[in-house]
Amino acid sequence: MVAVSTMADLTVEDGVAILTINNPPVNALSGGVRAGLTEGVAMATADDSVSSIVLICDGRTFIAGADITEFGGKPTGPSLQDALTAMENCTKPIVAAIHGTALGGGLETALVCHYRVADSKARFGLPEVNLGLLPGAGGTQRLPRVVGVEKALQMVTSGVPIGSTEALASGLISEIVDDLRGGAIAFAKKVVAEGRPLVRIRDQNEKIEEAKGKPELFAAIRKSIARKTRGFKAPEFNIRCVEAAVNSATFDEGLKTEGKLFMELMTGEQSAAQRYFFFAERQATKIPDVPKDTAEIDIKKVGVIGAGTMGGGISMNILNVGVPVTIVETKQEALDRGLGVIRKNYENTAKKGRISQQDVEDRMALLTGTLNIEDLADCDLVIEAVFENMDVKKDIFGKLDKIVKQGSILASNTSALDLNEIATATTRPESVIGLHFFSPANVMKLLEIVRGDHSSKEVIKTSMSFAKKIGKAAALVGVCPGFVGNRILAQRQYQAQQLILEGALPHEVDKVLFDFGMPMGPYQMSDLAGLDLGWDADKSNGETIRDRLCEAGRRGQKTGAGYYDYDENRIPTPSADVEKIIMEFSEKSQKIRRDIDDEEILARCIFPMINEGAKILDEGIAIRSSDVDVVWVYGYGWPIYRGGPMHYADSIGLDKVVAKMREFGEITGDPVWEPAPLLVRLAEEGKGFKDFAA
Ligand code: CAA
Repeated sequence: MVAVSTMADLTVEDGVAILTINNPPVNALSGGVRAGLTEGVAMATADDSVSSIVLICDGRTFIAGADITEFGGKPTGPSLQDALTAMENCTKPIVAAIHGTALGGGLETALVCHYRVADSKARFGLPEVNLGLLPGAGGTQRLPRVVGVEKALQMVTSGVPIGSTEALASGLISEIVDDLRGGAIAFAKKVVAEGRPLVRIRDQNEKIEEAKGKPELFAAIRKSIARKTRGFKAPEFNIRCVEAAVNSATFDEGLKTEGKLFMELMTGEQSAAQRYFFFAERQATKIPDVPKDTAEIDIKKVGVIGAGTMGGGISMNILNVGVPVTIVETKQEALDRGLGVIRKNYENTAKKGRISQQDVEDRMALLTGTLNIEDLADCDLVIEAVFENMDVKKDIFGKLDKIVKQGSILASNTSALDLNEIATATTRPESVIGLHFFSPANVMKLLEIVRGDHSSKEVIKTSMSFAKKIGKAAALVGVCPGFVGNRILAQRQYQAQQLILEGALPHEVDKVLFDFGMPMGPYQMSDLAGLDLGWDADKSNGETIRDRLCEAGRRGQKTGAGYYDYDENRIPTPSADVEKIIMEFSEKSQKIRRDIDDEEILARCIFPMINEGAKILDEGIAIRSSDVDVVWVYGYGWPIYRGGPMHYADSIGLDKVVAKMREFGEITGDPVWEPAPLLVRLAEEGKGFKDFAA
């Protein structure tokens, strides 16, 4: 065995050179790997005893892409393009032996090999779109030449990988082998023995020709992804590259278009934000004082208290991964309704073809309903999901303390209440933690894990792992009213209210935030959630706009009217009645209404969120600013191409945020515009939130 570079070695066995890449954890295409590919191929070519080459990777996966940490820095070693050109032009057949995930630059590397074989569990994809990029090493030109234009378009715009069976059927790989190394060597020998050609995908034009003169292929994909990819640049750029593959006179011309569009994305703000977020999400799983090797509780059975919307959604997450759930209600009718909704949700998913009818039955078979809380005795984790009332929650935790076996986790789904107070109802506060799911809980990816003063490391570690198991992105937060997400949201909601008193209308505020990239604005959100959430009809005395709307029966989408009027398809239109009420309130609060432009609406809504984020960091409620961004992207739909509120602030410059806060303070006279001390300090030091370490 010869070391070719720091990350690759070469052995020759019976005429086959085996080039092995070793760059843990995911064999990313770092400088040492690129050097290994270039040098390894050159060495094998020069060795007369070698008639074919197998490219294989050590560890858990084939090359999973470019080394994202190198992006934006000074490149070292050979370029990826040079390495791939050398491989494609190699005079001896190269066979890629693929396991794990061949992603991005990894798949592009495989695509310059003359043949590909894989084990049955391998996955193949071009996920660059998720990083705001496109495959910049020929992927958009080669993939359609192998799998066809339609499939390539799906793969590059969704970033979703395909499995080995699909890869075999579409011609991406030649064989599925059981023993990867042995199978790949045997395949390489077969290529030589049968005198098979050196297949260069760049020369294969058949599938490209089929798509020529069919612009409808591109129109169809654009239409199908339009809603999901609103505001994103990369999906459209990926499509343009595949279009170039079809319409360019030569392969190299298409490659040139790919290179140009790649650079535009790579140097743009969206990709910077999306790459930042890739690491933010992974960083959030690391808790400084909870080491990786902390013991975990084995979660074999879960109890959920409350079969309402939240309890049902939470249960579905857990059933989906094959863990049994016992759901507790106080009344049979509520229990039946809750179980019925879960079944209906699964049936609907099955109708859409996302799961099978057998999956529906398997999941329902894991679900038990009961009216007896004592049935939770043997659960390893119990999640309380009843309405937000401290007395009720304390009563439940007092009971759980007596019923549930020692060592289990007692979790509350509270979205704002004091977890430490809830924990006082038990004799084991170390077992108590907050698991704040976001509605709809079976869909939204965020899980705010609320660490109480006494939550044990074991309980925290288990909760973080369990979040991953059920497919959630977790962020660990401390106890304060509203935790991270809702505490920041409250600032935006307050400003949205001020704006309509000062001169804007709900639909104007909503439009600005929608255009910024949020899924909806604050008023659409209120109408969707229901204006009467937390509203008390007995205590309502018309003091706020919301009181007046609720009193008038305008309680949101569900009543056909809220801040907007809704037609039978729930399409909103601005309401003259609401405008009248707003005018009355403006007058009552002695505001002189004025024109408020979009720029002010945006800044007024966003900057107080950033300011609250600074306070949250300073108080240690979030570990790092990127955790706040994870909360806002996955909990509230903040556009990922803007990174999150804290990254957005850094990209504007904190000095500008402070200046604007002070300016609004002068205009409005409202003390909420006092910039947070941490924000001021970082701005004065010329730093960003990214530089903050608690
Ligand atoms: N570059 C650098 N580091 C990477 C990386 C990459 N491409 N992919 C993963 N890592 C790191 C992660 O940051 C993580 O590091 P820490 O342990 O320090 O947090 C570690 O590898 C393990 O990653 P995961 O926790 O994500 O592990 P997983 O097993 O859950 O998933 C994976 C593995 C499917 C490969 C996943 O990491 C992934 O999707 N990676 C990104 C793949 C990708 O986007 N590739 C395209 C890159 S862009 C490109 O290739 C452009 C081009 O055209 C040349």
